[in-house]
Amino acid sequence: MDKYYLIKTYGCQMNIHESEKLAGMLISLGFKPTDDEEKANVIVFNTCCIRDGAEQKIYAHIGALKGLKKRKPNLIVAICGCMAQVKSRPETIKKKFPFVNIIFGTHNLNEFKEYLIRFEKDRKYICEIWDEAKYLDEHVDTYRTSKNNAWINISYGCNNFCTYCIVPYVRGRERSRAFEDIILECKNAIDEGYKYITLLGQNVNSYGNDINDGKTTFARLLREISHLDGDFRLKFMTSHPKDLTEEVIDVIASEDKIAKVIHLPIQSGNNRILNSMNRRYTREHYLDLIKLIRTKIPNCYISTDIIVGFPGETEEEFLDTYNLINDVRYDGVFAFMYSKREGTVAASMPGHHDIATKRDRVNRLLSLSKEIIKEKNKNSIGDDYNIIINDYNATKNEYYATTDSGKSITIVNCNKTLNINNFYTAEITEYKNGKLYAKIK
Ligand code: SAH
Ligand code: SF4
Ligand code: F3S
Repeated sequence: MDKYYLIKTYGCQMNIHESEKLAGMLISLGFKPTDDEEKANVIVFNTCCIRDGAEQKIYAHIGALKGLKKRKPNLIVAICGCMAQVKSRPETIKKKFPFVNIIFGTHNLNEFKEYLIRFEKDRKYICEIWDEAKYLDEHVDTYRTSKNNAWINISYGCNNFCTYCIVPYVRGRERSRAFEDIILECKNAIDEGYKYITLLGQNVNSYGNDINDGKTTFARLLREISHLDGDFRLKFMTSHPKDLTEEVIDVIASEDKIAKVIHLPIQSGNNRILNSMNRRYTREHYLDLIKLIRTKIPNCYISTDIIVGFPGETEEEFLDTYNLINDVRYDGVFAFMYSKREGTVAASMPGHHDIATKRDRVNRLLSLSKEIIKEKNKNSIGDDYNIIINDYNATKNEYYATTDSGKSITIVNCNKTLNINNFYTAEITEYKNGKLYAKIK
């Protein structure tokens, strides 16, 4: 009889990719994917704990399985990912949801296959969390599920210890993968037909610092990948403003295969708050970087992350962030309300804000950035974009495409046949009802 799995993924791209590794393990054991909880023999929650909201949502979703598990006692429920790696969370999970069968952390993701085999044999609860990684997960069969995009890790963990952030505690110290292993994985993905390669690291710019041989650098990695044969675009995330160098900006500017897209989280536009966050750059340094990017890469898509309501943030300090957004005119802003994470430095700082203040600040930022993006879209008429065709509607003769940054674009009245999953250059012709229209050049 066929066996099915369902993976519920929370959090960032790192987790989305790790779910592809979990899927690879499940498939190698003969499982098939399903979206239907009723059909699943194994349900895995790959969790996130970046903010309390994420954790509460996950608790609710695990709790919702209670009835199903009662009806289907053979269903295997596994919990892994960042939340499972937080001290005392496995006990909390087991206490709240005694029906959970397997819990494991971020450092022993690769052991999932063994845990599952063991559980299927003796059906005894497994909870195994490692304090640190014992190996880099090099030889995992990944089952890619992100359409035309292949996620590829270049490093794991983070050394930065921004004072609000739990990631260094649940993902460990920064470990860079070997240069040649990354190149090989990119080559294979391109040969398999993936059109986008997205390199992943909490701080891609510090790639190689732990190898420290003078030649394992992010700039060289980008250059070598973009020189590989094939029709693809290279992307990466996330860049840290303290480590993004002019050399990297030059490589992005000069290599056609590198997407002109940079996600550069600022977190706050105020120097006192940046210092208190341990971000190790100033507002001025950040603005210089933006200027450099815009000079060397005209029309570069720039997005950012912001935290509002950091402990002690005054209205004036918040306005520094607001005004910076107004000046930089980002193409994308991800704004979050500060969430207290036990064990981080900021958790014990004075001046925690109430939810109303945080909500007010986040709403003001988001409506500002929405206005700016609308205006930028209006002004983009006549601009050229590299696009990929995703779909076609023959009745309307419309092609649906996305830019390298993921913006949706409709190609109307096209008088030649375009191929799905191929790149073209398109010129924006109209912005109507929140939608961008373009013609092929
Ligand atoms: N390594 C990446 C991503 C970190 S997590 C980076 O440095 O940018 C993604 C985003 O979540 C962060 O950029 C930050 O804006 C937000 N974040 C992290 N911890 C948070 C917290 N405690 N409360 C609210 N937002 C947080
Ligand atoms: Fe968290 Fe800072 Fe590391 Fe990003 S760089 S993962 S925000 S500690
Ligand atoms: Fe990502 Fe959430 Fe972990 S943002 S690294 S899945 S805490």
